[in-house]
Amino acid sequence: MPVYSISHVENVRVCVVMVGLPARGKSLIAQKIVRYLSWLSIKSKCFNVGTYRRDLQKAADIGNITADFFDPNNPDGMHFRRQAIDLALQDMMNWFLDENGVVGILDATNSTRDRRNRIVKVLRENLIEPIFLESFCNDQDLVLQNILDVKTTSPDYVGSDLQFATEDFLKRIELYEKNYETMDVSIDANLTFIKLVNVNSQIILNRIESYLESRIVYYVMNLHIKPRSIYLSRHGESEYNLTGQIGGDSNLSERGWRYAKKLPELVLKSLGEENKHTNLTVWTSTLARTQQTSSFLPYKRKLQWKALDELDAGECDGMTYEEIENQFPEDFKARDDNKYEYRYRGGESYRDIVIRLEPIIMELERQENILIITHQAVLRCLYAYFMNVPQEESPWMSIPLHTLIKLEPRAYHTVVSRIKADIPAVSTYKEKGTSQLGEQNNSTSSKSRDIINNSDIVP
Ligand code: ATP
Ligand code: F6P
Repeated sequence: MPVYSISHVENVRVCVVMVGLPARGKSLIAQKIVRYLSWLSIKSKCFNVGTYRRDLQKAADIGNITADFFDPNNPDGMHFRRQAIDLALQDMMNWFLDENGVVGILDATNSTRDRRNRIVKVLRENLIEPIFLESFCNDQDLVLQNILDVKTTSPDYVGSDLQFATEDFLKRIELYEKNYETMDVSIDANLTFIKLVNVNSQIILNRIESYLESRIVYYVMNLHIKPRSIYLSRHGESEYNLTGQIGGDSNLSERGWRYAKKLPELVLKSLGEENKHTNLTVWTSTLARTQQTSSFLPYKRKLQWKALDELDAGECDGMTYEEIENQFPEDFKARDDNKYEYRYRGGESYRDIVIRLEPIIMELERQENILIITHQAVLRCLYAYFMNVPQEESPWMSIPLHTLIKLEPRAYHTVVSRIKADIPAVSTYKEKGTSQLGEQNNSTSSKSRDIINNSDIVP
């Protein structure tokens, strides 16, 4: 049975047109929207105009450019920039058509009304709904911090020193400022737009109409840029894990309890000396094994979420994989063939988990330091969101017991560290084509996914 996403129900195609001066977080926001929508199975892609501009420079054999390239009075620069946006738009239109794209993101400064009007014309001719997303920021310290954070290492400054790169980028911004026209509720009254002011100290919305647009609005409203870490752990080994049974609500095994007792020490170690007093909020599922695992943690705020409960195996709850293979051989094979989509009889699929995890992701974006203790399938889905793991791969990822995972989201990637408790536990990993447990040769193993760039966008 085909699975429809909200975009198909509405039958809309949307182009998010980014707006704003350089170093305002546009690429970062664009990339996060693509990751979020892709995780929800909405086909999305970002078209970064800076990359097109650099490709054109390369083709014309032009080396590094400096700020004056971006002077609105520099005809050569303007010519290249015009070509770059046209190529990006053309590629986006082809993508909508050939690949059934749903949300395209046009990542450029689009800082003048004239440029935006031209974009709207192309989009309307192609029956694509434009939604403008502006990041307005006049906090000079933050802008300088952003430059140091990501711009001085941009391909535009390969071989340049830090001071030159910083000054040149500031000059680039000044040149853009000459012609910058911010979105305005009276002048742009007919356009759909979201304007974020100084991250999200103020958010201005205009003509948000479709459900898809309102999902995007809600998501970007929840983003923040404070540094933080997210800690993920499975519950300690359970009695069902020992017998190879899935589902249920069993207690921890003796080794599982040992993990629970050791968890506070692992958390402290990964917080590091400097942050050892950080007050974490702990989220668990409603099942006994996650709550038991959290029971020795010294943090006051512990919340239970039903949405964090393990995948519901329906009629197979409490069975071993061997029993499932014997009693429901067709289901067993169907699940191996398409593990992401397969829904247990009377139970859930991985896709179902993603849908119920959406409020968790939204809340996680809003929060700062959180420790989540949950279950194998749920943890795979959360991890897939942060690490941009394709859906068909995520149900096969290895997330062993008795291991604490720390995720540190950075501008363009997430740093992952895994801290093993050194307490033995059974493997609950089932490879494709067998009902036996244990890992032989797992290509999507933890290691291969350890430090992953969330994007191929070069800021
Ligand atoms: P350019 O136009 O040069 O491509 P950009 O606007 O795309 O610049 P990014 O490369 O995305 O800028 O900048 C990333 C930096 O912006 C990160 O340091 C990030 O913390 C910061 N940032 C993210 N969101 C915002 C925001 N809403 N306002 C200001 N800064 C932000
Ligand atoms: O830094 C500004 C930038 O990201 C450049 O790398 C890129 O060429 C440009 O924005 C693209 O946007 P526009 O053509 O609208 O200036």
